[in-house]
Amino acid sequence: MKLSYHGHSIVKIETGGKTILIDPFINGNETTDLDADSVKADVILLTHGHNDHVGDTVEIAKRNDALVVAPFELATYLGWQGVNTHPMHIGGAHEFDFGKVKLTQAFHGSAYTEEESQRIVYTGMPAGILFFAEGKTVYHAGDTGLFSDMKLLGEMYNIDAAFLPIGDNFTMGPEDAAVAAKWIGAEKVIPVHYNTFPVIEQNPDSFAESLSGGSGVVMKPGDEIEL
Ligand code: NI
Ligand code: MN
Repeated sequence: MKLSYHGHSIVKIETGGKTILIDPFINGNETTDLDADSVKADVILLTHGHNDHVGDTVEIAKRNDALVVAPFELATYLGWQGVNTHPMHIGGAHEFDFGKVKLTQAFHGSAYTEEESQRIVYTGMPAGILFFAEGKTVYHAGDTGLFSDMKLLGEMYNIDAAFLPIGDNFTMGPEDAAVAAKWIGAEKVIPVHYNTFPVIEQNPDSFAESLSGGSGVVMKPGDEIEL
């Protein structure tokens, strides 16, 4: 399984000949190396409905005929825009032909902001994503504050790679994310959701160095790791 990071919360997983994109916020994201008009995806996994996560999902899904897997309300909203969806919800897992997906809780908001009409469309609860394939387990926490059930994730799963937000202000900052990393006990912990906007500026290297056992891995947009 190949994992790559593409700025903000975008993670790409390549497994079994399929390309899976998590939270493809490309246009408006100055940190990404991806191009929304050419990026390939068989599947798009979404953690929640905020614009900096839904991003270019509709365009990418239509161009690639990709399946969009998202919390129920968000999947319904995107389905109305003409994309193929598979709705799920927190605590539920489903075995797909590209791997198994389970949604976890996340403490955050979830709504899509339609700027032009100044409307906010509520899109249910936000989630984190557990992804299982090739005997490996990947956790993408989505946007969340620290919560003590992260200990349970550490107890229940042998997580090979965990993507945790460190930007602060909207999500965990580096100190809380370091506590999360300890509880989750992942082999590799990759910081995400920082330096996209001034309010979430952080030093990912000092975060990674603060983690015990050398588990912190800073990935620059475009960097890949093999699990
Ligand atoms: Ni958010
Ligand atoms: Mn966000």
